[in-house]
Amino acid sequence: MAVVTCVEDLRQAARRRVPKMFYEYVDAGSWTESTYRENQSDFERIKFRQRVARNIENRSLKTKRLGIDMSMPVAIAPTGLAGMIHPDGEILAARAAASVGIRYTLSTVSICSLEDIAEHVGSPFWFQLYMMRDRDFVGRLIDRAKAAGCDALVLTLDLQLNGQRNKDLKNGLSIPPRPTPANILNLLGKPRWITGMLGTHRHRFGNIMGHVKGIDDLTQLAQWTNDQFDPRLSWNDIEWIKQRWGGKLVLKGILDVEDARIAAQVGADALIVSNHGGRQLDGAPSSIRMLPAIVDAVGDKIEVWLDSGIRSGQDVLKALALGAKGTLIGRAHLYGLGAHGEKGVVQTLEIIAKEMDRTMALCGYTDLSQITRDMLLPGSYPTAHERLR
Ligand code: FNR
Repeated sequence: MAVVTCVEDLRQAARRRVPKMFYEYVDAGSWTESTYRENQSDFERIKFRQRVARNIENRSLKTKRLGIDMSMPVAIAPTGLAGMIHPDGEILAARAAASVGIRYTLSTVSICSLEDIAEHVGSPFWFQLYMMRDRDFVGRLIDRAKAAGCDALVLTLDLQLNGQRNKDLKNGLSIPPRPTPANILNLLGKPRWITGMLGTHRHRFGNIMGHVKGIDDLTQLAQWTNDQFDPRLSWNDIEWIKQRWGGKLVLKGILDVEDARIAAQVGADALIVSNHGGRQLDGAPSSIRMLPAIVDAVGDKIEVWLDSGIRSGQDVLKALALGAKGTLIGRAHLYGLGAHGEKGVVQTLEIIAKEMDRTMALCGYTDLSQITRDMLLPGSYPTAHERLR
């Protein structure tokens, strides 16, 4: 078996194991994918300052964020359909996160349900909420997240409608799925995936099926979900969610300084600078490019987190150096999941932790609390609204 040394190795392995229509659901962005690409290339442009002869013995990545002790300031981002990337995917990824000492975020549109995770993982996790037109359903979902022991609610604001992902359209990835003959042929070449799927009963949206009246089959579910993402969502809805939830609230999908200011005013505990991994508004800036301006505007009022484009521990450190209190990883964990299930997600997280530790040391630091913009080469990172060179 090939030696796995980096997240890219896991991506390659996932590409071999996961059926094309689901692999491309992960490894793609919207329209021209320019934002998707820039999320990574903007990270690459940022350079570290190499410092030497500083005592770098006894290092630690441990931290406390949102009042929670974590082995490193990383959480797993919510990703829909993870249970199609690997059978029972959300349970396995949540177990991996718990074993490493970080939080897993379960998506509203996951395959495994809130109750599945609570029962099979037994550690606290976070729940991501999409605002649906059916507010009664949303209210019950919030109550179920509370009952499942979630210790933060992540409200996603950047998907009032779906960004157009051309690969999904071409692959017929819809509800119900309409795979092309080429996709079906490709599927037949993935016996391990097929066997795994035959061995689980979890194939549908676990948080929705059985919880909405009148939805018993895929066609009814398709109708319901197509109608449900709420285009009327506004800042006025946040208060209702806060009241109903009563716990830590995180607002995800903030990419603009003005929106960050409002997020701080409405009393959220944290915001996530995110462009949904380049899956929503193509042509929007990368998350890392917007981070410094947002931290400067609201970093003293609210915990600022970041996702989109993180593929290594070095990327995590760059975000921390630019003021993020924590980061989330979407695709990086799905590559591990698709490649080797729970073990693969643990591999992703261990790779990231190791890269963070080594890089921190080679920059001359032993503790995350020492890290500031000083870790980075001036001119290689954006300040305020500057463009990345
Ligand atoms: C996502 N993302 C996402 N976000 C969310 O709030 N709810 C969701 O259900 C999903 N689903 C989803 C599926 C897949 C396949 C991907 C790749 C992403 C966005 C996700 O939470 C996160 O913002 C991005 O994945 C971060 O970018 P990277 O780390 O993938 O580059």
